[in-house]
Amino acid sequence: MKLSLTSVLQRWTRLGAMLLLTALAGSAWASVQTTQPPLRPITIDLHDQAALRTGALYTLHMCVACHGIQGARYSELPPVLGLSKEDFLKYISTNGRHYHDTITSNMSEALMMKFVDMAPPDLTEIAHRRSPAWLYTYLTSFYADPARPTGANNVVFYNVSMPDVFATMQGLQKPVMVDGLRFGSPAKIAVGVQPLTAGTMSRAQFDQTAKDIVTFLYAVAHPHQQERMRLGPWIIGLFVMLSVLTYLIYRLYWARVITGKQRWWRIR
Ligand code: HEC
Repeated sequence: MKLSLTSVLQRWTRLGAMLLLTALAGSAWASVQTTQPPLRPITIDLHDQAALRTGALYTLHMCVACHGIQGARYSELPPVLGLSKEDFLKYISTNGRHYHDTITSNMSEALMMKFVDMAPPDLTEIAHRRSPAWLYTYLTSFYADPARPTGANNVVFYNVSMPDVFATMQGLQKPVMVDGLRFGSPAKIAVGVQPLTAGTMSRAQFDQTAKDIVTFLYAVAHPHQQERMRLGPWIIGLFVMLSVLTYLIYRLYWARVITGKQRWWRIR
């Protein structure tokens, strides 16, 4: 193909225009700001089997009413929770599902569309995408909002369609509002919650339960995490050993290649 000067120039102008547009779009995007509420920090311990069991109990009985956790099968859970198959079936159970089934919700999608106008997302995927701190903040920060069809809203998920399933356990909460920005426009932004009514659990008990749920969700979404932590030091050890060996080979090689003061690239 022959390229004339004009066609080359045209190409460069087009490329320049595209770059300029991208830069402009980028700066426009950056100016659309939303005030971000702070996340509640949390440290989860994937070896804490008591937390994992409590988390499994709440998740498989409360959340699976609406959400699937299709990244896992029931049969994968007993080793994670440190339970035998019999104990798992006795204390946690599969809600009538087959032991080797993936964890799906019993609620049909049509019914969910009727209730909340959308199919709840799969929790394996959510736990992959969201950080433990985000999940923990989300679970503990539902607040009463009469303007919403479900009567609930969430600090980190504005206008969420999930109802406040923790209302009885945690009690209702009211938002702490500040003046901020939502997509660039001034708005009242919820940045935290305060108790409104008492629930069946104390605040500390509920926070612990939410933490256990996050621990379980994280463990299920990252099934190889424990194995990675176990293998990590060995793999690093292997690389250190390889580095030593490679260095020795390097010394051996150069000891032979360099003759006198001459380096190999100078030898004719
Ligand atoms: C009544 C049905 C229902 C129950 C029960 C329920 N959820 Fe939800 N959940 C939803 C719906 C619907 C959404 C989608 C919200 C949206 O996108 O506006 C959702 C969203 C979420 C999200 C945010 C997803 C995202 O897009 O980041 C998380 C996390 C979550 N649920 C966790 C849980 C956990 C954990 C439980 C159990 C304690 C639970 N849910 C119980 C209906 C439910």
